[in-house]
Amino acid sequence: MLSREFKDGLAFAQEMDQQDVLRPIRDRFYQIPGEMYMDGNSLGLCSKDAEESLISMLEIWKNEGIKLWNHPKHFRYTDVIAKLTAPLLNADPLEIVTVGSTTSNIHQCLATFYHPTEKKYKILVDDLNFPSDRYAVDSMVMLKGLKVEDAVKVVCSRDGRTLSEDDIIEAMTDDVALVHLPSVLYRSSQLVDMEKVSKAARERGIIIGWDLCHSVGSVPHDFKAIEPDYAVWCTYKYLSAGPGAVAGMYINKKYFSTRPGLAGWWGNKDETQFQLSHTFEHQQDATGWQVGSPHFFSMAPLAGSLKIYEEVGMEKIRAKSLHITAYLMYLIDTRLSQYGYSVGNPREDDRRGGHVSLEHDDAYRICIALKNNRIIPDFREPNVIRLAPVALYNSYEEVYQLVNVLEKIAANKEYENFSSARALVV
Ligand SMILES: Cc1ncc(COP(=O)(O)O)c(C=O)c1O
Repeated sequence: MLSREFKDGLAFAQEMDQQDVLRPIRDRFYQIPGEMYMDGNSLGLCSKDAEESLISMLEIWKNEGIKLWNHPKHFRYTDVIAKLTAPLLNADPLEIVTVGSTTSNIHQCLATFYHPTEKKYKILVDDLNFPSDRYAVDSMVMLKGLKVEDAVKVVCSRDGRTLSEDDIIEAMTDDVALVHLPSVLYRSSQLVDMEKVSKAARERGIIIGWDLCHSVGSVPHDFKAIEPDYAVWCTYKYLSAGPGAVAGMYINKKYFSTRPGLAGWWGNKDETQFQLSHTFEHQQDATGWQVGSPHFFSMAPLAGSLKIYEEVGMEKIRAKSLHITAYLMYLIDTRLSQYGYSVGNPREDDRRGGHVSLEHDDAYRICIALKNNRIIPDFREPNVIRLAPVALYNSYEEVYQLVNVLEKIAANKEYENFSSARALVV
């Protein structure tokens, strides 16, 4: 394990960079000239690997036109991605499909797994998840002719930052049909104990699904132990597949013979898909849950990016991520607490994801001041500056410089030069 005996000062940060086994990988990502990027938890940086993979897909289209479908590798291109994604989840590649967006995949999973009965009809959610998940849950409940107030049960956070696994389990009453939760909370970076919560759901005959947007590519998962029923994730954050890139979905193999809730021709069995029959016979693996044609031009950069993951492995990524974020927290504690900054994420390694949730009463204006200093963070209401030193491409020296700038902004009250009126995208 990497030493947690941190010191202040540039020389220490540079020494850490010299010892960093992932240091050479940084050069495969395009850094934005003159900028320090701390926002890989929102939109990952572009790698040369992703770029080459996208360009080579363009060449295939240019040179082969529709003939590209005749190649089995392209006809089932999602399998290429699934094979590369499987080690990140410790899942069978057949349980993974690369398709849609996180939100459309939630709709697909709810349409497949949510079958309310008179006695068992509630969906259990939390009050800290990303709103899109809640919109999907509410709309599915309404589609079933139920009232949101009645059929959506919300577990509330006790501190506004984190969820208690015991509270979630206690809320799994007999009337709950399905639980939908985040693995890592987008604001506070809490890593929820998925194994404990999933086991409790299974024991009670409740379907459980996870939103992995903030953990995939940053935290290793063991789906053989967690055994969720379904999971969804995006690929544009830590996985660096590009803005709006195609998302991922996991369907536990025990459901392969279950009819997908939302059917489409690309989910039909390979052997009969092009017979174009009006009777849907779904492919008996996760690809049966596809609806329309695959998104080649965002799968291609994802394939490039995932090859980096294959080369490096999640173990080294998680080790550096925990270490570099611990270093950031050390600097916050020792240098910044006097200016009203505090760490809002859990401190324990097994309870935190890949970003640091830095809280400050003037967080919004501090984010603008950071951008003015050419550092890219992001802001989340009401008082959180999310900072993600990403294992694959951020350096310890950047973290050190980031803290210097955070200190300067607070000490000189630089943020007072900016308005707190919210911009369209924050
Ligand atoms: C936790 C979580 N769920 C869902 C989404 C929405 O993802 P998409 O735009 O792929 O539907 C996001 C987007 O940031 C997210 O952070």
